[in-house]
Amino acid sequence: MQTVKIFDTTLRDGEQAPGYSMTIEEKLRMARELEALGVDAIEAGFAIASPGDFESVRAIAGVVKSASVVSLSRAITKDIDAAWEAVKTAARPRIHTFLATSDLHLAAKLKMTREEALERIRSAVRHARNLCGDVEFSLEDATRTDPDFMCRAVEAAIAEGAATINLPDTVGYARPEEIRAMVANVMNRVPGIENVCVSMHCHDDLGLAVANTLAGIEAGARQAECCICGIGERAGNAALEEIVMGLATRRDAYNLATNVNTKEISRAAKLLSSITGVKIAPGKAIVGANAFAHESGIHQHGVMANAKTYEIMTPESVGARRSALVLGKHSGFHAFSQRLEDLGYTLDKALEKDLFAKFKALADRKKSVEERDIVALVESAVGRRSNPDDWTLDNYVVSSSNKMFSTACVTLVKNGKTATESAFGTGPIFAAIRAVEKIVKHPFSLEDFQIQAVTERRDALGEVTVKVADSTGVYRGRGVSTDIIEGSILSTLDAVNRMLTGSAAALGTGASADAQHSFCDDLLSAGHTDKE
Ligand code: KIV
Ligand code: ZN
Repeated sequence: MQTVKIFDTTLRDGEQAPGYSMTIEEKLRMARELEALGVDAIEAGFAIASPGDFESVRAIAGVVKSASVVSLSRAITKDIDAAWEAVKTAARPRIHTFLATSDLHLAAKLKMTREEALERIRSAVRHARNLCGDVEFSLEDATRTDPDFMCRAVEAAIAEGAATINLPDTVGYARPEEIRAMVANVMNRVPGIENVCVSMHCHDDLGLAVANTLAGIEAGARQAECCICGIGERAGNAALEEIVMGLATRRDAYNLATNVNTKEISRAAKLLSSITGVKIAPGKAIVGANAFAHESGIHQHGVMANAKTYEIMTPESVGARRSALVLGKHSGFHAFSQRLEDLGYTLDKALEKDLFAKFKALADRKKSVEERDIVALVESAVGRRSNPDDWTLDNYVVSSSNKMFSTACVTLVKNGKTATESAFGTGPIFAAIRAVEKIVKHPFSLEDFQIQAVTERRDALGEVTVKVADSTGVYRGRGVSTDIIEGSILSTLDAVNRMLTGSAAALGTGASADAQHSFCDDLLSAGHTDKE
């Protein structure tokens, strides 16, 4: 059976999408998971784009053993050189260079004639091949490129040694029939096409990215470029899990395999969500919380009689679990530790013990602790080791009213010393965060604040994700508690500790010191003071 290669671009095209930026450490965690998932290639970034991108591609190249590590580059010598510098230590390095080929892009963006574009493709691929044995060439905006010119461009790239030819639907415009015709045109007319791998890279602007990718595969493409959960520019890229499970579930129709260990899919999606703080929509195909939930009585009855009645694939096949074992306050360390292992976490004993203490405290407040609660506890604790200089929460009191400003009095501890401040705000969370800002004496702005119930019941844990910024950058923080004020303070402290101790890289550049106003300023500039 032939194989379709899975080229993951979560860390490049995916990371470009707003809200998905990751630090180098987070990208490394994700890259390790992608390797465990069994993808054939990991596009680790766009090396020339920024020093941070360059460093993360280089770091990923240093740890990934089995998958190809790829850097994107425009068809420009200095981009290609940077891409090579970043990937050259990888076990399987690849340079991915691209040039737009549609008349629209050539005229409006590149100001190039078709002949000049052909010459640029030749020189770029030649230069890349002189550096690296594995070169991919992409015809950006392929789906709006003249079919005859496309054949000439593909032929030029192959003649210079490109091993993979990618035909992106850059703007998510094509229909599956058109993709099939485009791939067939290239497969039938370009000399030497049988010696290279044709790749699909489809965007989801019209919701057709996966359908278009599968159509391209039907017509002969043997590489699919995709992202976990379909993240990516604008409406995103084709979702990796949907392509892989589409091929696996309908092997009768496609007769094609992938190298993906489908049982890792769920874990990879959860990791991405926990790193970025962006929740997976409950109805998301394959990895959403409801993807295998049967609500209606008729469906439940059918599934009990024979799961195949309403299940075309099993939750186990994607690493999801059918039933969540409930743990309670009488559960011991061993059961807790076993549960962590079952969930796929390999943590050091000290962290496990710390988490067990948090689990016990939670079990005291909450009747039953579900798997999702444990995942939330773990995810709020991993990713950054605590630092002796961290601020931690001792206690807080808030008062809140629908007629007056809310007030908060917060006590934090650092190096054994306590500090207390009070502040007011338009709501209790706002007031509590202002009190934190006053204690740490470091102005920051709040860039993002999200709160989500981990489970559905009334005693649910609240998971709070914040992004705070100062002039050094943007920092993400996470906190969980059955009390949303406590969760908000914990997540703010997590982010502020990252900011103040330099123990974690920033997600991106923050506002400049001048342009930035602190969280406290928000109210002060509205003419209010804490004395009110
Ligand atoms: O969408 C696109 O065309 C791309 C290329 C750079 C591969 O991301
Ligand atoms: Zn793209």
